Amino acid sequence: MSMRADYGEKIPNNVGLADDRRLQRALESWQPRFATWWAEMGPEIPTRDVYLRTAVNVGREGWAHFGHVKVPDYRWGIFLAERDPDRMIGFGEHKGEPAWQELPGEYRAELQRLIVIQGDTEPASVEQQRRLGYTAPSLYDLRNLFQVNVEEGRHLWAMVYLLHAYFGVEGREEAGDLLRRNSGSADSPRILGAFNEETPDWLSFFMFTYFTDRDGKYQLGTLKESAFDPLSRTCEFMLKEEAHHMFVGTTGIDRVVERTAQLMVEHETDDAGPHGAIGLNQIQKYLNFHYSVSLDLFGGETSTNVANYYTAGIKGRWQEDRRDDDHRLTDDAALVDAVTGTGNGEQSIGQTEVAALTALNSDLRGQYTADCMSGVKRWNKILAGAGLPHRLALPHHGFNRHVGVFADVHVSPDGRVLDDAEWEHRVPGWLPTDTDKAHVMSLMRPVYEPGKIASWLAPPRNGIDGKPFGYEYVHLT
Ligand SMILES: [Fe+2]
Ligand SMILES: [Fe+2]
Repeated sequence: MSMRADYGEKIPNNVGLADDRRLQRALESWQPRFATWWAEMGPEIPTRDVYLRTAVNVGREGWAHFGHVKVPDYRWGIFLAERDPDRMIGFGEHKGEPAWQELPGEYRAELQRLIVIQGDTEPASVEQQRRLGYTAPSLYDLRNLFQVNVEEGRHLWAMVYLLHAYFGVEGREEAGDLLRRNSGSADSPRILGAFNEETPDWLSFFMFTYFTDRDGKYQLGTLKESAFDPLSRTCEFMLKEEAHHMFVGTTGIDRVVERTAQLMVEHETDDAGPHGAIGLNQIQKYLNFHYSVSLDLFGGETSTNVANYYTAGIKGRWQEDRRDDDHRLTDDAALVDAVTGTGNGEQSIGQTEVAALTALNSDLRGQYTADCMSGVKRWNKILAGAGLPHRLALPHHGFNRHVGVFADVHVSPDGRVLDDAEWEHRVPGWLPTDTDKAHVMSLMRPVYEPGKIASWLAPPRNGIDGKPFGYEYVHLT
């Protein structure tokens, strides 16, 4: 079933907004508040225009349009993946029943909570990244930053649409609060910790888009399975845009590693830092930080809330239909991490068996970690290709954690439980120190000349939309 895309409307959409005047009016009154938020909290660097992709439909081909646009005039729209009229619920106690087109009253509170938490992350990352334009390593990278930012803005629109369309007065209030909370704010911070951290430099941006946006991908993947069909279809289309954010992170870190390796070889040194690069050990420390704070986003190892979401059919597993089990899990068990004492005061990391339904956070985190490993393999191939013996690695998932069973212990990157003294002594070798951050910041000088690039970064293999790297992706004012 295909809904016509209405691109001429004030709010471009494929949800038939013109046929629902009340909803249309509500969203049109939210629109100027979004514009104000974008002006105050969005990218700071003034531009004449930016070469951007805009979602104009959802079909397999031609869903997006590329062109130079004035950023405040970007056409943020509401697009849901096409509806499958035969879609059945794939898991939980309603498995095999038709997907819900209307909001089920008994799960209203839970669904609203899940949508608000997802919605809160979208504008948060725009806020975290708002000053990065001032230090862009190239116009190509600056353009990608704007692309990620406008799409996170559109993802906010997607969640706000659901809140307005299905959750009445409470939904409208929540939609307002999504603009009231701000990243890092003392009075009204964003809901999740990682979204209140700063993204002060481009290494952090690439790490964020690799590790933290990838958490978003996995969360969207579980909501895409939802029995509540409008949420499922919204998330399915968001995942399409999210792929580019993953690309920015993956290739961004590729290019950092490539440049660092190049200078290590050229200067026959283990530390390319003094030669205008980011040191390989600094890359490792940033990786350690961003991976560990992103793991915290998956919540505790066990969760009865998440078990209930699954049983109710509102949040599934990553690639639910590829799982070879009964998709109800009521009789299954799973192993999750546990920290155990050994009697003499020493602790070690083991596993404990729990009901599979309560272990779904651990399941999702495991899928995410396997995906993160693929990036590390890529980066190590770059190092090997440069003839270097050095390698990057993901730290143990207990390292630097503030949520779940590892929150109360110190774990080294190789998975040993450490006492406070050893942790304090070793941690400057594992997480970015002030000196590391100062070095990375010192390299963050903007390069706005078309075809030129900063010292610490290799150019991309290809440009965007078939354009060369040297294309004038951004016109600054
Ligand atoms: Fe997003
Ligand atoms: Fe994203």
